[in-house]
Amino acid sequence: MKKILSLTTCLLFLTLSSFLAIQVTAQTKPSISKETPEQKLKRMQWWTDARFGMFIHWGLYALPARHEWVKNKERITNETYQKYFDEFNPDLFEPKKWAKEAKAAGMKYAVLTTKHHEGFCLFDSKYTDYKATKTAAKRDLVKEYVDAFRAEGIKIGFYYSLIDWHHPDFTIDEVHPQRPLINSDTAYARLNKGRDMTKYRTYLYNQVTELLSNYGKIDILWLDFSFPGKYGKGKDDWNSVALIKQIRKLQPGIIVDNRLDLGSYSDGEDFDTPEQVSPKELEKYKGKTWETCQTFSGSWGYYRDENSWKTHRELLDLLITSTSNGGNLILNVGPTARGEFDYRATNALDSLSQWMHANSKAIYYCTFAPGTFQVPEKDKLTYNAAAKRLYVHLFEYPATGNLVLPGYKGKIKYAQFLHDNSELIMKEEGNDILLTVPVKKPGYEIPVVELTLN
Ligand code: GLC
Repeated sequence: MKKILSLTTCLLFLTLSSFLAIQVTAQTKPSISKETPEQKLKRMQWWTDARFGMFIHWGLYALPARHEWVKNKERITNETYQKYFDEFNPDLFEPKKWAKEAKAAGMKYAVLTTKHHEGFCLFDSKYTDYKATKTAAKRDLVKEYVDAFRAEGIKIGFYYSLIDWHHPDFTIDEVHPQRPLINSDTAYARLNKGRDMTKYRTYLYNQVTELLSNYGKIDILWLDFSFPGKYGKGKDDWNSVALIKQIRKLQPGIIVDNRLDLGSYSDGEDFDTPEQVSPKELEKYKGKTWETCQTFSGSWGYYRDENSWKTHRELLDLLITSTSNGGNLILNVGPTARGEFDYRATNALDSLSQWMHANSKAIYYCTFAPGTFQVPEKDKLTYNAAAKRLYVHLFEYPATGNLVLPGYKGKIKYAQFLHDNSELIMKEEGNDILLTVPVKKPGYEIPVVELTLN
């Protein structure tokens, strides 16, 4: 009896202390806005349902065509980099084509680099001359992107680099092209003489204000990136709190990424951004709100000589694995300096569009399956709760003609292939369900079985 009593006290104590711990963490994180978690869920609903978006990294770095960080990697000065501005002439820029490709591939939203770290603005900002309107393009390219994608019913996102390697007041830090060879306070002090971050902060605030005022409804803002530390930059350098307040004031429904360094607030970020991680690593994000950003070949900007392009299967794996862990995938295209998607990107998108045409029901509105469903070996599950459908993504096609659904007895009403709604005959075997599938694999890299649940 004594033992039972002390066990109960122990349990009570544990429950109480974990309850208090949760309260304390919730309390210690201040909030910036008054939005409730329910309101946040609602604001983000379309994005969660969409699951798949297109990132577009395009800027002057498309001309050197050897990484969007070329200015940093090769420590290029503004003077030397100027040739790319002078030569910028995207004669094949037709964002309507981009939008059509994105739509065909099943992407529901897009995010374009309005300014990347190099500082060049694709939009007509009144705060700088370092912009597309002053090049041979002579146009506001952001406006054309917005119009084209909106016309296709694709949600509009802006990427905006917090970092700026062109602005004269942006102080030199450890990732700046003109960073010192050896880090020291005196070296930075010498390099930063005459630079004034206060002025840059105003510039940043003004440009974000322009972007969120001049192009109608903007659905996503992707700010990039913070790297707090002695020779880095974080929320105080950007004045992130004031910035996010202004962002939400101008565009109340907007969805903002997590790179403003506002993690110490309960509502400083809308989603996590695991960058270029493997499908395996995505599993640990289950239960969070997240979007993995991924490239076709490694770099984000157009990189002519990069040959590490992902296969169709690898891209599908990223898409399916994201959904099956409750997250989004934003897949990047780096258009060429002439303004079009390179043939390798187009081919990859074409293959995705074939798969999505047949299988998108297993992606949109889907998330991870309830724990009561065992994942058949090597496969992956996605789940649409409202439609009461479970999707089995056949990563390893059963050449035997039999697909075992372990422990599924009594849970399934009907089974079919998703791509053609052709019935898959079910048999019970003990606790399992056995589906008869054709021995010849259907013409999709990863075919999907659709199960209607009881
Ligand atoms: C990184 C890189 C950048 C890219 C971005 C996309 O922060 O600096 O080049 O735009 O990730 O996630």
